[in-house]
Amino acid sequence: MRATVRTHIVLSHLTPNESITVVNTCSGNNSNNNTNCNTTSCGCPYVDSIRKRESEHSTTVNDRRPVRVLITGAAGQIAYSLLPMVASGKMFGPHQKIILHLLDIEPAKTVLDGVVLELEDCAFPLLAGIVATTDLKTAFTDVDYALLIGSFPRKEGMERKELLSRNIAIFRTQGQALNSFSSPSVKVLVVGNPANTNCLIAQRFAPRIPKSNFSALTRLDANRAKSQIASKLKVPVDSVNNVIIWGNHSSTQYPDIRYAYVDSNSGNSGSSHRERVVRSVRSEVNDDKWTREQFVKDVQQRGAKVIGMRKLSSAASAANAIVEHMRDWELGTEREGEMVSMGVWSDGSSYGVEEGLIFSFPVVCARGGEQRGRYRIVKDLQMDEESVRMMKATEKELVEERNLALEVLKASENSQKSK
Ligand code: NAI
Repeated sequence: MRATVRTHIVLSHLTPNESITVVNTCSGNNSNNNTNCNTTSCGCPYVDSIRKRESEHSTTVNDRRPVRVLITGAAGQIAYSLLPMVASGKMFGPHQKIILHLLDIEPAKTVLDGVVLELEDCAFPLLAGIVATTDLKTAFTDVDYALLIGSFPRKEGMERKELLSRNIAIFRTQGQALNSFSSPSVKVLVVGNPANTNCLIAQRFAPRIPKSNFSALTRLDANRAKSQIASKLKVPVDSVNNVIIWGNHSSTQYPDIRYAYVDSNSGNSGSSHRERVVRSVRSEVNDDKWTREQFVKDVQQRGAKVIGMRKLSSAASAANAIVEHMRDWELGTEREGEMVSMGVWSDGSSYGVEEGLIFSFPVVCARGGEQRGRYRIVKDLQMDEESVRMMKATEKELVEERNLALEVLKASENSQKSK
């Protein structure tokens, strides 16, 4: 279906098969609230809102003091890509001073010290200090943001349960450290795999911190999906919006394009043409078989493909996704009403997902005001039969991981009691 409209549209409510052509009527001096003007000098409300957005992004997270950002696994490969981005202002804007807290384990201490030398050599104006340590208390004290990247890697022949046990030990102690030493409003992003379940463990051991302050990274999966769609439709990647990742950061995740749209005015594609075209991705792709059988699988398997070729897991793309996740969470999503994907606490009230899981949902992050720094799960999307099936499969895996984790925790508590 294609309709031509001249009024304000709420893009997140574009239904799966709709395309809309928005005719811009602004002619350089618009005072009629036309949200689709793409001129830059007319002074109309739409342009004002872009300027406001830019200035929101360039303001500081906290005007009075540098913020403390903890990165665990700081001697690892994701951190190596991530650190220059954080220290140069890509995460929290070009005016926010940062003190980096870098944690790694004792065997990686020399590498960590080498990373510190490099950071010093970058002479980043925003970098107000570096705390590099192998001590948990020093690392977690007073941090405002905790990016938990370091984890125990899966080794050949290792059972899932053993991997989980190793990681439970790490994320339990880190959860306790968050609880005891970090700012009570600390925002936590778990990247180390299995990210959703590690996040759940950290959260469980940090009761002082609100549950909604914990998240797991699925933004990389969303970016992978976005990029696949852009390449399929031969459109700029930045014009693709609202691709959703549901569930676990694993091969059961459900990449969903039913509410995605291509906006001819977004990002790089911002043409100087007056006509703005908003098209449903699903109707543009027009090939549900490709979506179901190729696209979904390609996104689910993309991480494994990178490992197969690089012999190392995704690092640059993971670092980029971490920056985008934290920036949107703290400063708000780029476009009004835009949905992004975050693994967050399920309270049981969204899409029938069991309470107590860290599940990737579409969220909108507030762009200012009292809600700034908060996200809300987008709740009113319709689920078709296939979507329900995919959601159930990824939910089932998360329930199994959680149950296994609880079993491991119980066994370790029992063995401590009997000592
Ligand atoms: P890496 O092996 O290069 O670095 C990991 C670092 O963590 C090492 O320096 C190691 O010494 C450190 N470490 C291990 N245990 C630690 C602990 N208890 N405390 C502090 N540091 C500790 O690994 P890489 O490539 O940086 O990946 C890190 C994790 O991120 C892996 O679990 C990987 O699977 C995961 N990952 C998650 C993605 C996601 O989208 N959620 C995407 C890509 C990777």
